[in-house]
Amino acid sequence: MTLKYVNETLNFDNIDIKELGQTIQTPYYLYSENIIARNIDEYISELKNTDTLICYSVKANSNLSILSLFAKKNLGFDIVSGGELQRVVRAGGDTSKVVFSGVGKTNEEIELAIKSKIYCFNVESQSELHRIDSIASSLNVQANISLRVNPEIDAKTHPYITTGLSENKFGISQDDVLSTFKTISDYKSLNICGIDYHIGSQITDIKPFTDSAKKVLSLVNELKKIKINLTHVDLGGGLGISYNNESPAKRGDYVRSLIEVFKGTNLKLIFEPGRSIVGDAGILVTKVIEKKNNPNGKNFIIVDAGMNDLIRPPLYGAYHKISSVKENTAPVALFDVVGPVCETADFFGKDRYITADIGDLVVIQDTGAYGFVLSSNYNSRPRIAEYLISNSNVTCIRGKETFSDILGDEERYLE
Ligand code: LLP
Repeated sequence: MTLKYVNETLNFDNIDIKELGQTIQTPYYLYSENIIARNIDEYISELKNTDTLICYSVKANSNLSILSLFAKKNLGFDIVSGGELQRVVRAGGDTSKVVFSGVGKTNEEIELAIKSKIYCFNVESQSELHRIDSIASSLNVQANISLRVNPEIDAKTHPYITTGLSENKFGISQDDVLSTFKTISDYKSLNICGIDYHIGSQITDIKPFTDSAKKVLSLVNELKKIKINLTHVDLGGGLGISYNNESPAKRGDYVRSLIEVFKGTNLKLIFEPGRSIVGDAGILVTKVIEKKNNPNGKNFIIVDAGMNDLIRPPLYGAYHKISSVKENTAPVALFDVVGPVCETADFFGKDRYITADIGDLVVIQDTGAYGFVLSSNYNSRPRIAEYLISNSNVTCIRGKETFSDILGDEERYLE
């Protein structure tokens, strides 16, 4: 169901990418509803008959058609901005299953979230408690909150996507968390219901997850002693996928091992997966524009997608497999696969064995998460289109931007 060569041409979820090239212009993202459904089902089947909620982490891929798949499955959503909240609403999501994470929620975003009747704010500091309390009080409502604790666990992932270390900006330190919890009864418009943490992303080993769960469980027990009884623990997201033959924990094993830690506590468990639901369900399809050799022996394949479309390789040194749509029968040389953007950092992969000629299609794999959402208009390039394969049909779920989309309202301000 994923990527395989059929009659020497690459198929993704049984769609022939070369044939699709006759009707769809590159570059574009292509997602598979089948793979997304399979990934969700791996979570859901393990969670049957448990008091749990999956809040899909919207930041991973926030296209409305993708969100609506989760809304139809009655999933909740983990959001980090007013914009993401509005996307959830437009996609038909149930706001009573929304948790609002993030270190810098503005007053306007807090107000919008309260009015939208979200389930809970994941609060990151004492001063945020103050602000949510006063906004809730002015609206005459009680706001549900949980406190995000920093479990100080090294998830051994890329430094830019690690969040559970004491030097990171996220969460309340373990030393301060009990005293912060104790202050909550002073706030008349806050209703404390949980504790929350998230240690990082693209974590392939289960141990950092269970280690932090155990730390959080002991905090929950400390809180019980001082008569603060929580109803839920939000365990964040972070489960990794296989980009370069890594062996991440299976979704089911991950969930089961965390349920095991909290067994017998009566706490509702909230999971916030992003990448592990959409990451391997997307590819970036691009076309070779040019080929070039440098005198020092470096070979380049220059494709029509750029770092503005997929920034993970330059930003995190992330590895994505790259395949030629035409089956590589005899790879002849190593190539750097690069884009047209005027930056040396504009690369998708270095020293890859790949055979592709000018005009051939190339696929950058596992780009369903943190791909399109991190794209930009750098070099005045339009954001590219997104397509979804559902029941063997390919439909556009976002058109390619036009030049006037890029300009926005700039012309209004010309002298
Ligand atoms: N919950 C919270 C509070 C988060 O900050 C994140 C991701 C998630 C859940 C979802 O994590 P996931 O299951 O997707 O690992 N742009 C980076 C990843 C940044 C992750 C940010 N937070 C990348 O491309 O690798």
